[in-house]
Amino acid sequence: MSHIIQPQFNRREFLKSTGQFAAVGALAGVALPHVHAAGSDQISVALIGCGGRGTGAAGNAMGQTGAPKLVAMADVFEHRLSGSHSTLKKKYGSQVDVSDNHKFISFDGYKGAIDCLKKGDVAIFTTPLAFRAVHFAYAIQKGVNVFMEKPVTADGPKSRQMLKLNEEAVKKGLKVGVGLNSRHSRALQELHQRVQDGEIGDVMLMRGYRMQPPIGSAFSEKYPGPDNDLPGKPSELMWQISRFHSFLWASGGAFSDFYIHHIDHLSWMKNAWPIKAQALGGRHYRGNYVDQNFDSYAVEYTFEDGAKLYMDGRCMIGAHSIYSSYVHGTKGMAIAAKSGDTGLPSSTYRGQNPDRSKMIWTSNVRPGEVESHFNEWTDLIDAIQNDKPFNEVERGVKASVVTNMGRFAAHTAQEVTFDEMLNHEHEYCPNADKLTMNSPAPVQADKDGKYPVPEPGIKKNREF
Ligand SMILES: NC(=O)c1ccc[n+]([C@@H]2O[C@H](COP(=O)([O-])OP(=O)(O)OC[C@H]3O[C@@H](n4cnc5c(N)ncnc54)[C@H](O)[C@@H]3O)[C@@H](O)[C@H]2O)c1
Repeated sequence: MSHIIQPQFNRREFLKSTGQFAAVGALAGVALPHVHAAGSDQISVALIGCGGRGTGAAGNAMGQTGAPKLVAMADVFEHRLSGSHSTLKKKYGSQVDVSDNHKFISFDGYKGAIDCLKKGDVAIFTTPLAFRAVHFAYAIQKGVNVFMEKPVTADGPKSRQMLKLNEEAVKKGLKVGVGLNSRHSRALQELHQRVQDGEIGDVMLMRGYRMQPPIGSAFSEKYPGPDNDLPGKPSELMWQISRFHSFLWASGGAFSDFYIHHIDHLSWMKNAWPIKAQALGGRHYRGNYVDQNFDSYAVEYTFEDGAKLYMDGRCMIGAHSIYSSYVHGTKGMAIAAKSGDTGLPSSTYRGQNPDRSKMIWTSNVRPGEVESHFNEWTDLIDAIQNDKPFNEVERGVKASVVTNMGRFAAHTAQEVTFDEMLNHEHEYCPNADKLTMNSPAPVQADKDGKYPVPEPGIKKNREF
């Protein structure tokens, strides 16, 4: 049995089956071997959190073999859902099949969206991280596969809860992807193999840099009050959600949201997680901003064998920008991400300088596999269609705990171990499962509209 799939939706399978890497335009009308039947077996996806990344992830899903369909959407803002729907509809046409009664605008909307799926389908979680565990618990109960964005958790209680929940997901054999897309970069996969094979010797030092002007919603001025002119007229809770990079309860702040990719892929190169962190950080220019972030962070992570990972992060206008990552071994060094979180090419060198004349290898990724956000879906859909083990939650939680360690160490000016961070008792949004549109915001401003900020050396056991 065979079926015809539109060319743009089956790139990897075609390339694998033919061993060729032709331009996708050349594939029109090519009949391909059956992998996963259309019709009742066709994979459907539900998008929960219809913002920038959610829209991207739903598109990545629909671009895969078997032309998965988007059948349900949920958000807490109507304008976000309708914007995402019209963007996706324009691009993916009939693959976007979301009737009005499959569009849900509420905190409970995830239930309605997941209820539209059958076993074997995929729920996409691309809200800020505060809601991951709530949504994951329901998907597990319903037996559907999941793709959830990074970071997975911001605090100890949620990290432990996610690990516990995942035991059930593993028992049920659910396939669960976590959006640490470095792991699906074909260049970083090859670099990892080369590092394991000893090409640069024993790994002693790693460096990650994400230094840029403020982006996303990292810096926020005062909430303008309930009578505001913002889209959706948000309450303070809804405003905090829409500016999630500003609030530790929602996202783990700028540190967790922006730096987790480098921390994750550098730890991967070492094949270990750091056991402790100490850090510096501060806010040089507070201006009228009232959010909970610092503008500068410098973390020193230590591995069990004494090797170090340094992560420098900065959100500052006018400062030098660097956005790349490096691995140093006893025989040589590697550029992991040349530009960005996973930006190609990766390369290895003899000695400690990235000098072209000393280059050993540079990545050369197949045209259809350059985009790691697309690859992570190729790998997830492949696991679903061919029933391969695929669960990235434990790794995603550990990467989140390590990231939280660095942030916590900077915010408190204390050394913190992995175990202390995992077992810490401060939960930043304990009522995430009970929030409604009218709930008070999880973090409250003082009389001047300012939110509690870290005070290193003064608040030593909690971040705020
Ligand atoms: N892997 C990557 O490269 C990458 C890139 C960007 C973002 N992300 C991650 O994706 C997530 C979303 O980021 P974004 O940039 O798309 O933000 P965004 O604000 O554009 O989208 C988030 C959406 O979730 C909705 N939402 C919030 N709470 C909700 C709830 N309880 N139920 C339903 N919907 C809810 C918001 O209204 C919004 O539409 C974050 O965790 C972020 O770190 C990952």
